[in-house]
Amino acid sequence: MSKILVTGGAGFIGSNLVDKLIDLGNEVVVIDNLYSGKKEYLNPQAKFYNLDISDSKVEEVFETEKFDYVCHLAAQIDVRKSVDDMEFDNQVNVLGGLNILKNCHQFNVKKIVFASSGGAAYGFPEQIPTSEDHLTYPVSPYGINKVSFEKYLNYYYKIFGQKYTALRLANVYGPRQYKGGEAGVIAIFTSNAIAKKKSYIYGDGLQTRDYVYVDDVVSAFVLALKSEFVGDLNIGTGVEKSLLEVVSAIENCLGEKLDIEHQDAKLGEERRSCLNFDKAKEKINWQSEVNLEEGIKRTIEWAKNNN
Ligand SMILES: NC(=O)c1ccc[n+]([C@@H]2O[C@H](COP(=O)([O-])OP(=O)(O)OC[C@H]3O[C@@H](n4cnc5c(N)ncnc54)[C@H](O)[C@@H]3O)[C@@H](O)[C@H]2O)c1
Repeated sequence: MSKILVTGGAGFIGSNLVDKLIDLGNEVVVIDNLYSGKKEYLNPQAKFYNLDISDSKVEEVFETEKFDYVCHLAAQIDVRKSVDDMEFDNQVNVLGGLNILKNCHQFNVKKIVFASSGGAAYGFPEQIPTSEDHLTYPVSPYGINKVSFEKYLNYYYKIFGQKYTALRLANVYGPRQYKGGEAGVIAIFTSNAIAKKKSYIYGDGLQTRDYVYVDDVVSAFVLALKSEFVGDLNIGTGVEKSLLEVVSAIENCLGEKLDIEHQDAKLGEERRSCLNFDKAKEKINWQSEVNLEEGIKRTIEWAKNNN
């Protein structure tokens, strides 16, 4: 059994990860300020600190709890918000992260696993599926700050020996995903369909993404925690799906047509995104298990009871 801190443990991916880590017999502590997370997603067996990751009180938590491992997922995740308020994104996603990282080093945490972004890190990629050695020139402040924090992790490893893995996650979907604002399209479209509301496609719907189911992402965190591997890993399926294909998969599962309206394409949106996961397979023996049809089925079942 290990003692593990999950920052962002009341959020979509974090709360699913907390459940799994507790199932596996670990003692789990959550730091989350409930900015987008929900108290009802918190596993009652996890100890909860309602705290901002930038808060100086984080040091007291590390001193008291003495963590073996840290999974750092707390973040401002809205790309559009990062464009509107670059300083806020930097404050949470870089400075907040540094507060966690400094404490990991100070209190001898064995390893930190960070939720980075494979969708945002590569900007407009020249190679699809994209592998980790592709240049990282993000086209949003959110992406810049994710890559920037990876560089701080690398610096802390090279200079102080603080071990880490940065998981560059593709487009994650599944139960508990936030469905407002600029959130994941599968969460928004399934929720709208169940509520008999209209959904909007910006542009022609041929833009592609790599959709990875949340349980597969949770497995990647668990494998990365156990592994000695240090560095960056893409966590995606290697399968490129267009928005129109996603719509049709949701329609097949629901057995009805979605109410869709096309609107103008959004400026700066990536046209294609898909990750090569060979390195994750080689280094931590990870690959996705849940295909899009099965993942959408599970997400819809959950959404019907939680809309
Ligand atoms: N969902 C995706 O497709 C995706 C893709 C790539 C990377 N990621 C990364 O995975 C992580 C989890 O994302 P998610 O989709 O579960 O989002 P989420 O918004 O559901 O989870 C983020 C959590 O962090 C908390 N949080 C935000 N600001 C905080 C702060 N200052 N202090 C403490 N807690 C704070 C929120 O309350 C929330 O519980 C994020 O780091 C995100 O950037 C997500």
